[in-house]
Amino acid sequence: MVDLLNSYKGKKVFLTGHSGFKGSWMCLLLNQLGAEVYGYALNPPTNPSLYEVAKIKELITSYIADVRDYQALSKALLEVQPDMVIHLAAQALVRDSYKNPLDTYSINVMGTVNLLEAIRHTKSVRAVVNVTTDKCYENREWLWGYRENEPMGGYDPYSNSKACSELVTSSFRSSFFNPADYGKTHQVALASARAGNVIGGGDWASDRLIPDFIRTIGHGEKVKIRSPYAIRPWQHVLEPLSGYLMLGAKLLMDGSKYAEAWNFGPNDSDAKTVEWMIGKLCNLWGEDASYEIDTNPQPHEATCLKLDCSKAKTRLGWYPKWDIETAINNIVEWTKAYKQGVEMRSFCEKQILQYFES
Ligand SMILES: NC(=O)c1ccc[n+]([C@@H]2O[C@H](COP(=O)([O-])OP(=O)(O)OC[C@H]3O[C@@H](n4cnc5c(N)ncnc54)[C@H](O)[C@@H]3O)[C@@H](O)[C@H]2O)c1
Repeated sequence: MVDLLNSYKGKKVFLTGHSGFKGSWMCLLLNQLGAEVYGYALNPPTNPSLYEVAKIKELITSYIADVRDYQALSKALLEVQPDMVIHLAAQALVRDSYKNPLDTYSINVMGTVNLLEAIRHTKSVRAVVNVTTDKCYENREWLWGYRENEPMGGYDPYSNSKACSELVTSSFRSSFFNPADYGKTHQVALASARAGNVIGGGDWASDRLIPDFIRTIGHGEKVKIRSPYAIRPWQHVLEPLSGYLMLGAKLLMDGSKYAEAWNFGPNDSDAKTVEWMIGKLCNLWGEDASYEIDTNPQPHEATCLKLDCSKAKTRLGWYPKWDIETAINNIVEWTKAYKQGVEMRSFCEKQILQYFES
């Protein structure tokens, strides 16, 4: 079992994408674990944002810059001399990737190349987790969960750019951070992490189910949903983040033994359809919340997507803690607190404690 409490105390963690939804929760988690956090990202991608709402800037050292700018990225890493790097920065939306494939590829692919190359020249780094997605697999529309050794693919530019980011990671691992040479010619343990559809309080991204729901309720409108029968591996944001941190702790401790790809998804029973999710949300929210199906033609998205997480369970001792109903309950509570003007940093910290106690 990984001792998270003692693995990060006093460690310098360089976190890209710290101003985003998952990045902000990660800053809070790392702060609670006693790490020194150095963020590198563009300004928050939404307004409002969890970054502003939970006043994350007060907790960390923040670099506002582009992952496509190799000089700036390399300078920041050399200045910080971190123990560990977690790479979250990305153009993270499927529908935006159809509108702007060029930016999606340059941020998600060249951003990864720039970061790994800069790490090569920063001698302090010992552990790297590159966060990609469950969508990186070649989707066969089957019922089984994808395993880490299955082929990369990606129909839309977002999914495919993340598959490319995985291939870049694999090439850097073979060429420069080879586990066979660990401790001889280098000291970097490089892994990648693939998680499911992440949900949680504080997400305002466009074209995502929960943020669309939050934006709509309270205005007397019905929430519009696309692809009602699409099955997704939904999970609370704290699930994959705890997985990335357990993996990171193993990389710091045992190095090359864990330098590979890892899935962090929910249990099979929590892979639900979009319509099931929205029905549950409406029920829990109350106040006559309701939804309707958007029948307009939509760009292609996979219908069935599940992850097989046997490897993380067996070798890292990582297990999902909150089932889908608990996750939705926590989102409803978070959103109601936010709407009532509660101080949200403490509220998030309380949810983090509840998560680890459960
Ligand atoms: N949210 C999900 O459901 C989900 C699921 C699987 C994987 N992921 C992955 O997790 C990561 C974080 O996702 P998120 O939901 O927090 O996304 P987000 O859009 O909320 O945040 C993206 C972050 O990347 C930064 N960024 C974007 N372009 C940049 C650039 N050119 N240079 C520097 N920084 C840049 C943004 O400033 C922000 O900090 C992404 O890599 C995403 O692909 C997300």
